[in-house]
Amino acid sequence: NDTSTKYYYTTENDLPLLKNRTKFAHKGHFGHALLVAGSFGKTGAAVLAAKACIRSGSGLLSIHIPQFSYSIMQSCVPEAMLVIDETEQIYCQKDHLEPFTVVGAGPGIGQKKSMREALHTLITNTDAPMVLDADALNIISQNHELMDLLPKGSILTPHPKEFDRLTKKHEFHYERIETAREMAEKQKLIVVLKGANTAVIDVNGDVHFNSTGNPAMAKGGSGDVLTGIILGLLSSGYDPIDAARLGVFVHGRAADLALQKESEESLIATDIINHLGLAYKSIR
Ligand code: APR
Ligand code: MG
Repeated sequence: NDTSTKYYYTTENDLPLLKNRTKFAHKGHFGHALLVAGSFGKTGAAVLAAKACIRSGSGLLSIHIPQFSYSIMQSCVPEAMLVIDETEQIYCQKDHLEPFTVVGAGPGIGQKKSMREALHTLITNTDAPMVLDADALNIISQNHELMDLLPKGSILTPHPKEFDRLTKKHEFHYERIETAREMAEKQKLIVVLKGANTAVIDVNGDVHFNSTGNPAMAKGGSGDVLTGIILGLLSSGYDPIDAARLGVFVHGRAADLALQKESEESLIATDIINHLGLAYKSIR
């Protein structure tokens, strides 16, 4: 009913400008991201998100992982530091979280009780903006009080089913977008409603539809890559809305570029990561 709502279509010309690194830049200028991802059988989600994060500008990345995945992570993502524990109890004390400027959580974490508790601890002890995806959203949908505790400027990246779990069943996608607007405005969060033409919804209710991407992305792993991209951009100093809009655009652009070599059948999430360099160059 709010006639002042603006609906935008984000093309290359409407994007926030990419920041250039100054000659004397050092890693301390680009944040320290914490990624909480993966669980037994879903370590791949953590690998994909981590690689996408370090390919999206983050100064430092630490990944919180269960102990069994130590050697997998160390060999797949040697650039990242690891925070390892056996219990899935993510940082019980606030000072453990202090080095981190942004926190991403969700890809492949599962919904075991220990993880639900760990996520609760994480959300209640951090002020850093968070990127929440996948099972982090599913856990929040069962513990709705967590929604009010999310740090300002946090970004949620649900696909339609995750969004419906978080809110209510929707028959039509346009209704989902309206619910997402209400949620974004009420909670002061950015909502990234994924799909073809992903809608990025700002805290003022503005809706930015994305113009890049293709159906070859409709495969497990693509979403994990997006979480990492947005986390990396947020870490390197973009405002949450800019990180979300740029991230969604570049994610789709990288997949479009990858499709010049791969086919709709053969394209995999790793191809998206491997084309991030060309994707960023294409909008510079
Ligand atoms: N056109 C453009 N982009 C698309 C298209 C399309 N037709 N289909 C998918 N995408 C993009 C989405 O916009 C989103 O960025 O691919 C990504 C898919 O993300 P998710 O749905 O989160 O998929 P992903 O997490 O990789 O799937 C793995 O997540 O929820 C679980 O059950 C799900 O097992 C699955 C797992
Ligand atoms: Mg997903």
